[in-house]
Amino acid sequence: MDNSGPSRRLIMGNWKAGCTTRAAAAELTRALAAALPAPPPGVQVVLLPPFTALEVVSGLLPPDSSLGAQDIFWEDAGAYTGTVTGPMLTDLGCSCALVGHSERRRLLGETDEQAARKILACRRHGLLPVLCVGESLDQREAGQTEAVLRRQVGAALADCPPGPLAVAYEPLWAVGTGRAATTGDCAAGLEVIRAAVAAAWPWALRVPCLYGGSVTAGNCAGFWHEGTADGALIGGASLRAEEFAAICRQAAVGESGGS
Ligand code: PGA
Repeated sequence: MDNSGPSRRLIMGNWKAGCTTRAAAAELTRALAAALPAPPPGVQVVLLPPFTALEVVSGLLPPDSSLGAQDIFWEDAGAYTGTVTGPMLTDLGCSCALVGHSERRRLLGETDEQAARKILACRRHGLLPVLCVGESLDQREAGQTEAVLRRQVGAALADCPPGPLAVAYEPLWAVGTGRAATTGDCAAGLEVIRAAVAAAWPWALRVPCLYGGSVTAGNCAGFWHEGTADGALIGGASLRAEEFAAICRQAAVGESGGS
């Protein structure tokens, strides 16, 4: 998956547990392939279906789009009941994996240390880790946003040498709430995140930084224009083929995208 270069945008559809059967996943992928017969210029589209649908989706992907996983376990194989590991994901054709999504942190108690180990697991298997970070509403109201973002990024990268990485800024109060961040909030969060990555990896190549949290076809463009995001991580709207395709088209870069 090539997401290098300043003019590329990464648009990721995180289906969560939103498509519960393989038939439903196939139907959604087919609808998306029909709505996106050619990839918009400069846009890398990535679909993140549930683990159980990875295989069926991989055979139906829209042209030039890629497959990713919503999570990865930090070990490769062994007595780890219920886990899905790097070798399993690469065998299914995944090119990236989310790490530290807020729903896993909040509901399953995932920690910064586990995120760090998952990034190393991605690294071992050539998967692009997409580290998800973001502050809760309480943390925001207590003025802790910068400290939380710096801690989450710093801890996740502490023991990891520079390498392929993307980071998604997903304020918890914006995820799944219908209350997206403003483009100003987005730009401010991404500035902190970019500085934290630069502090951890002073010689790093450019790390794409995305925004996620109630992104729709109606608000997406502001996140990459005023919001400075290099793309978006999209939950609810990624389950609606026409809307997700419209977001991908609006992310087009260059001649036809005009941005
Ligand atoms: P949402 O989810 O677009 O439904 O807010 C985003 C995410 O959790 O990645």
